[in-house]
Amino acid sequence: MIAIITGATGDIGEEFVKSLIGEVDLIWAVGRSENKLAALHGKYGDKIVPVICNLSDKDSIIKLCQKIEDEKPDIKYLVNNAGVARMAPVTDFSIEELSSMLEINDTAATLLCRAALPYMAEGSNIINIAFASAFQPNPYIAVYSASKAYLLSFTRSLNVENKGINCIAVCPGWVDTKMLPSKTKSGKDIKYPGMVSADVVVKTALKDLRKGKDVSVCSPYYRYTRFLSKVIPHKTMMKMWMRAIEDYVA
Ligand SMILES: NC(=O)c1ccc[n+]([C@@H]2O[C@H](COP(=O)([O-])OP(=O)(O)OC[C@H]3O[C@@H](n4cnc5c(N)ncnc54)[C@H](OP(=O)(O)O)[C@@H]3O)[C@@H](O)[C@H]2O)c1
Repeated sequence: MIAIITGATGDIGEEFVKSLIGEVDLIWAVGRSENKLAALHGKYGDKIVPVICNLSDKDSIIKLCQKIEDEKPDIKYLVNNAGVARMAPVTDFSIEELSSMLEINDTAATLLCRAALPYMAEGSNIINIAFASAFQPNPYIAVYSASKAYLLSFTRSLNVENKGINCIAVCPGWVDTKMLPSKTKSGKDIKYPGMVSADVVVKTALKDLRKGKDVSVCSPYYRYTRFLSKVIPHKTMMKMWMRAIEDYVA
């Protein structure tokens, strides 16, 4: 019985490694850096099977799907955790950067779900890491936000299509990981409201999964903003968002 965890070398990814390693025989730790995967193997031992895969490259994603089909493992967990983000107007991104973001955040997750589902028995789990930005549009992280809205919608549909397999979209707000670029800008502290640690995200996600939820939001602050996004027009929500980030995008 195995778990497949993408972005296993990242902060949230490693928390999933820690939490799931006792429940499975092997973890396919998917990452693009041989050295980081070797370090993970050194830390957690032979249950870690390093799987080198650059998820921004469609051919590499397809190779990984093919590996699943060839080996037909008994998959208890698929955690689509790898993701990339950057705050800037859309026109500041190169075509390559945008297309790579969509490959990692959406295409890889989608194709891996498709490849893994035939090898998942009743009671298995798909955990897709989205973001609280999935609940409303967010200018300046427009594509990232839209990519996570896709993942939220996709995961909830999967959960209904696949009876007996628990599919959950994990939608934390800010998480204190190396994805957040900096803690200061022009000498001022950057505010990340409602920020939590990676272990809180993972513990809450696994608890919510056991409860049969299809969405996990780990902090009261973001449960509240999710509620607001259902009752307040998104134009207003975007104005509030723009006020919150005005110091950082000027
Ligand atoms: N931090 C936040 O505020 C926050 C909030 C909500 C949701 N999330 C989501 O949480 C997930 C994990 O992020 P994190 O915060 O833990 O950040 P992180 O520590 O930077 O982890 C990101 C992971 O994705 C991997 N990755 C990036 N590009 C890849 C590629 N081309 N191929 C394969 N793997 C690749 C990274 O690999 P390397 O180690 O090789 O770079 C790393 O393992 C992401 O989906 C992110 O969108 C983060």
